[in-house]
Amino acid sequence: MAAFLFFFLLSTFHSRIAAQQRPLNISLGSSLTPTGNSSSWLSPSGIFALGFYQQRNGYAVGIFLAGIPQKTAVWTANRDSPIFSSNVSLILSTDGRLILQQPEGQDITVVDPSESISSASMLDSGNFVLYNSDKEIIWQSFEHPTNSLLPRQQLIPGQELISSASETDDSRGIFRLVMQTDGNLVQYPVGAANGPENAYWVSKTFGDGPNVTLNLEDDGHLYLTNSSVNLVKNLSDGGHPKNKMIYLMKIDVDGIFRLYSYSVDQGRNWSIIWESSTDRCDPKGLCGFNGFCTKIDNLVDCKCLPGFQFVNQGNWRLGCERSFVTDSCNSTDSNVNYTIEFLENTVWEDNTFSMVNTGTREDCAKICLEDCNCEAAFFKDGQCKKQRLPLTYGKRETDSNIALVKVHKHATIDEGVIPSNPLKCRKEEVRVYVLIIGISLAVLENVLMDESRCAKISDFGLAKLLKNDQTRTYTGVRGTRGYVAPEWFRNLPVTVKADVYSFGIMLLEIICCRKSVDCTSPENEAILEEWANQCFEAGELYKLVGDEEVDDVRELERMIKIALWCIQEEPALRPSMKKVLLMLEGTGDIPIPPSLPSFSSAL
Ligand SMILES: *[C@@H]1O[C@H](CO)[C@@H](O)[C@H](O)[C@H]1NC(C)=O
Ligand SMILES: *[C@@H]1O[C@H](CO)[C@@H](O)[C@H](O)[C@H]1NC(C)=O
Ligand SMILES: *[C@@H]1O[C@H](CO)[C@@H](O)[C@H](O)[C@H]1NC(C)=O
Ligand SMILES: *[C@@H]1O[C@H](CO)[C@@H](O)[C@H](O)[C@H]1NC(C)=O
Ligand SMILES: *[C@@H]1O[C@H](CO)[C@@H](O)[C@H](O)[C@H]1NC(C)=O
Ligand SMILES: *[C@@H]1O[C@H](CO)[C@@H](O)[C@H](O)[C@H]1NC(C)=O
Ligand SMILES: *[C@@H]1O[C@H](CO)[C@@H](O)[C@H](O)[C@H]1NC(C)=O
Ligand SMILES: *[C@@H]1O[C@H](CO)[C@@H](O)[C@H](O)[C@H]1NC(C)=O
Ligand SMILES: *[C@@H]1O[C@H](CO)[C@@H](O)[C@H](O)[C@H]1NC(C)=O
Repeated sequence: MAAFLFFFLLSTFHSRIAAQQRPLNISLGSSLTPTGNSSSWLSPSGIFALGFYQQRNGYAVGIFLAGIPQKTAVWTANRDSPIFSSNVSLILSTDGRLILQQPEGQDITVVDPSESISSASMLDSGNFVLYNSDKEIIWQSFEHPTNSLLPRQQLIPGQELISSASETDDSRGIFRLVMQTDGNLVQYPVGAANGPENAYWVSKTFGDGPNVTLNLEDDGHLYLTNSSVNLVKNLSDGGHPKNKMIYLMKIDVDGIFRLYSYSVDQGRNWSIIWESSTDRCDPKGLCGFNGFCTKIDNLVDCKCLPGFQFVNQGNWRLGCERSFVTDSCNSTDSNVNYTIEFLENTVWEDNTFSMVNTGTREDCAKICLEDCNCEAAFFKDGQCKKQRLPLTYGKRETDSNIALVKVHKHATIDEGVIPSNPLKCRKEEVRVYVLIIGISLAVLENVLMDESRCAKISDFGLAKLLKNDQTRTYTGVRGTRGYVAPEWFRNLPVTVKADVYSFGIMLLEIICCRKSVDCTSPENEAILEEWANQCFEAGELYKLVGDEEVDDVRELERMIKIALWCIQEEPALRPSMKKVLLMLEGTGDIPIPPSLPSFSSAL
C-alpha cells in the first residue's frame, strides 16, 4: 500500500511538475490528526503537504515534501515548541481560525492572520495560503520562512532564516541568515548583535540599495536583486535542469546555508549545488566561550583552552570554563601563582584592551603575567595583544597567531595540562629503525632506508641521528609488545591498519628521540601517545623534542600529525600506509588528527 502510494505520488508528480494543477480548496471544518487517516493536506501534485510530520518522540506541524522518501520539512509552525503528542488535532475551525486542539488544555493558534479565514490551499509551489471570504490571500507561508527557501520564495529586507536546533528538532537553533536593509545578506549566531564582529558570512552587497532581496528560481538560480535592477549578485548561477527537479535552500543545523537539488528520477538524495562555506568551523559560536573549533576531514570538534574544561561535555555551545579558582587581582604578587600556556594556530575574536610590541612570545607571556587584568593574550607579528576572558569564536587555522592563556599553577585539570617530559631524550641512543611488521615490510624499509625520504624527516634535525649513529634493528611482528595496536587487546579484527599503528608509534619515538630498547611495557607507549597528543593539542611541540634544536617547526608539526593519525584507536581512522607515505613525502597541510582518549580512559 505504501509502495503503491509512493508510486502514485511520483507519477502524479511527474505529470504535474510542469503544469500545476488547480489548488485544492481546504474548507472550514477540515481537520487533521497525526496518526489518523488524514494527517496532512496534500498539494494537487502530491509533492508538498501541510500537516503533521514526525519529530523525535512526537509530531510537528509544518510543510514538508510528501512526494519524496526523505519527507524533508521546509516550514515549521510554532517553532518555539514544535513537538506535539499524537492526541492533538489541527483544525481549520468553522469560526475561521487555524488551531491545534489538545484533548485537554487550551487551543494553540498555528497562524494568526488579521482577518478570519474562509478557506485554505496547499499549493504545488510549497506555499500554504489562507484566503478571506473575498478569496484574497490574507496569509501565506512563503512570507514567513523558517529555515528554508523554495523556488519563487524571497527573503526580503528585514527577514531572516534561523537554523533548526538539530536534525531531529526543528525548533530554533543557533544560527541565522539575515537579509539586511543595508543590502548585505549576512550570517550571524543567534543572540549576537548584527555587526561585522559577529558575522561569519557576508554577501558583500552593502550599499546596493535598501531593497536588496534574496531570490531562488526553479532552475537553481540563487541571487540578489534590488528595486532597480534584476541582478545585484549571483550566489549560484542558474541553468540547472527544471524538469523533475526540486530545489531547496536551507540554513542547516551546522550554520552553513546550502542550495540543494533533488532529482525525482534518480530519487536518491539531496545533492548540494552551492554552499556558503566549505569550512565547517566557519560558523561563529559553534564552540561557545573559551572553546575552539577543529576539523578532522569533514567532522568538526570543539576543544577547550588549556586549563579549561567543558561546562557540559555533551553541549559544546555552552563553552568552557576555568578548571581553577583565580586569585584576586589586588594582591601585590598576583602573578606568582600563574603560568602561561601557549596555543598555536588558533584565531579568535580580537578584543584587545592593551597592545605592546614585543620580540618573542616569551616576552608577551611575561607582559601578560605581570598584568593581573591580562587573562590571555594573542602574539602575532611582534604584537602582544592583551585579552580578557572569555575568548570567543576560536578556531584552529594555519595562522601564525599564538594564543597565550594564563593558567593557575595549582590547577587540577584533566584537559590541556601538560606534564613535564616524562621521557628522557637521549640522542645518542636513537638509531635507524628497520621495523619489520607483517606485510608492510617492504614499504617501511623503503621509508626509512631511502635517504631522500629520510631527508624529509631530517628537516628538523633527525637525519643526522638516523645516519650517524649505530644501527639497531627492531624486529616486530603483529602482536609484538610495544608497537601493538589496541585491537589486539580488545579482541577486534586485526588488519593491516595494525601495522600503521606500529609505524605511528615508531615515528613518535624517532621524533621524540626516545630510548626505545625497552619496548616491553605497554604503559610506556600509552604515556608517549598521550604526551605527544597533549603537547600537540596545546601547541607545545617544542616540548616533544626536548633539548633538540628544531629548524623547521612546521615540518615537525607535520610529522607529529602523521604519527597521531597513525595511532588512532579506531583502525578505520588510521590512514593507509600508502597515504602515510604520500603525507611523509608531501609538503601540504595534514588535517588535524582527532584527539586520543586520555591514558586512564584508554585502559
Ligand atoms: C473554497 O470553497 C468554499 C466553499 O465551497 C468557497 O466558498 C470558497 O470560495 C472556496 N475558496 C476558494 C479560494 O476557491
Ligand atoms: C479510516 O479508514 C478506515 C478504512 O478506510 C475506516 O474504516 C475508518 O473508519 C477511518 N477512520 C476515520 C477516523 O475516518
Ligand atoms: C495526550 O498525550 C499526552 C502525551 O502522550 C498525555 O500526557 C496526555 O495525557 C494525553 N491526553 C489524553 C486526553 O489522552
Ligand atoms: C541596484 O544595484 C545596482 C547595481 O549594483 C546599482 O547600480 C543601483 O544603484 C542599485 N539601486 C538602488 C536603488 O540602490
Ligand atoms: C523598497 O520597497 C518598498 C516596498 O516595496 C518601497 O515602498 C520603497 O519605495 C522601495 N525603496 C526603494 C529605494 O526602491
Ligand atoms: C547569473 O546567473 C544567471 C542565470 O544563470 C546568468 O544568466 C548570468 O549570466 C549570471 N550572471 C553573472 C554575473 O554571473
Ligand atoms: C542521504 O543523505 C544523508 C545525509 O547526507 C545520508 O545520511 C543518507 O545516508 C543518504 N541516503 C542515501 C540513500 O544516500
Ligand atoms: C597562590 O595559591 C595558593 C593556593 O591556591 C593560595 O593559597 C595563595 O593565596 C595564592 N597566592 C596569591 C598571591 O594569590
Ligand atoms: C580585593 O578586592 C576585592 C574586591 O575588589 C575585595 O573584596 C577583597 O577584599 C580585596 N582583597 C584584598 C586582599 O585586598
